[in-house]
Amino acid sequence: MVNNLRKTDPINPSEKVLDEASGIIRKGGIVAFPTETVYGLGADATNDSACLRIFEAKGRQSDNPLIVHISDFDQLSEISGGVSHAVLQRLEQVWPGPLTIVLPNRKAGKVATVGLGTVAVRMPAHKIPLEIIRRSGKPIAAPSANKSGRPSPVTAREVVEDLGDKADLVIDGGKSFFGVESTVIQIRPDDILILRPGAFNAEDVKKLFQMKVRISGMQSDSPISPGMKYRHYAPSKKLILAPDENYILEKCESGGNFAVLGSKELAAKLNCETIVLGSRYDLYEVARNLFPSFRMLDRGKFDYGIIEPFEERGIGLAIMNRIRKASEG
Ligand code: TXA
Ligand code: MG
Repeated sequence: MVNNLRKTDPINPSEKVLDEASGIIRKGGIVAFPTETVYGLGADATNDSACLRIFEAKGRQSDNPLIVHISDFDQLSEISGGVSHAVLQRLEQVWPGPLTIVLPNRKAGKVATVGLGTVAVRMPAHKIPLEIIRRSGKPIAAPSANKSGRPSPVTAREVVEDLGDKADLVIDGGKSFFGVESTVIQIRPDDILILRPGAFNAEDVKKLFQMKVRISGMQSDSPISPGMKYRHYAPSKKLILAPDENYILEKCESGGNFAVLGSKELAAKLNCETIVLGSRYDLYEVARNLFPSFRMLDRGKFDYGIIEPFEERGIGLAIMNRIRKASEG
């Protein structure tokens, strides 16, 4: 039993819950809360011992920096000295939203940034974290609220499944909207590097900044975000990324104790166990169901899973990135 769970409405959150959460943050505690992408586990980004508790609770590698969440643009200039007027104007068009930008660090602590000299910042489009940040007066460092390596949680139940009572408070604000994490970018002199594809589409990054966009990991020499080098987002059971639909059709013919993770269009053609992700023509629906489907695979009686490949456009780029990470090794 956990008694640190508080349920509240995501649009009109309870004053009491927000005050309790911001009080905990101010005192150096850790709080799990929903965002528009996935649930985060947050602490005061300027408090090293509070941030250390996040690493311990998640079992996170100590070289993997946290994203710092802010609630307004004044906080951005406090956190980072290095935001040009041009970049600021772009961010004003899309924040709050699921875009994270890596900037020179000014104020975030050594533990949150793992001493890199840079800080990843985002303003979440969700009333609960925005209000906790505002009320505590602190920028909040928050990775996804899962055990390291596990799929990111999109519900409070999944947070509790992974973290139990390790957080001082878990706020249940319903299911996260996107279901995949924010897009992490770095602006370079001649292009924008997407360090992690996410809920903010690469096509929109390009339109927003009017610059060439490169996606890291697509070339073997390109830098990646520290966190992207680990097996990640993964079910405990083996997950096979099918090369195409025919592979799955043939596997189902020959049988075996596996589940197919796939679209309803594919499910209609199969007569084997399927965890339905939604329509392949609505990739936002697939994104929302992706991480929960990994957890369902683990809970089920199956030995392993086979997952359908999706089109790599729009949020499909993030979906396929997560599937590849989950099916590695
Ligand atoms: O949607 C999200 O971004 C969620 C919610 C809670 O905001 N947070 C999240 O945090 O996904 P996390 O820790 O699971 O992923 C953060 C990613 C990691 O891949 C990390 O390596 C990268 O951002 N990152 C953080 N600081 C960085 C920095 N200074 N330079 C490069 N990459 C950085
Ligand atoms: Mg994570």
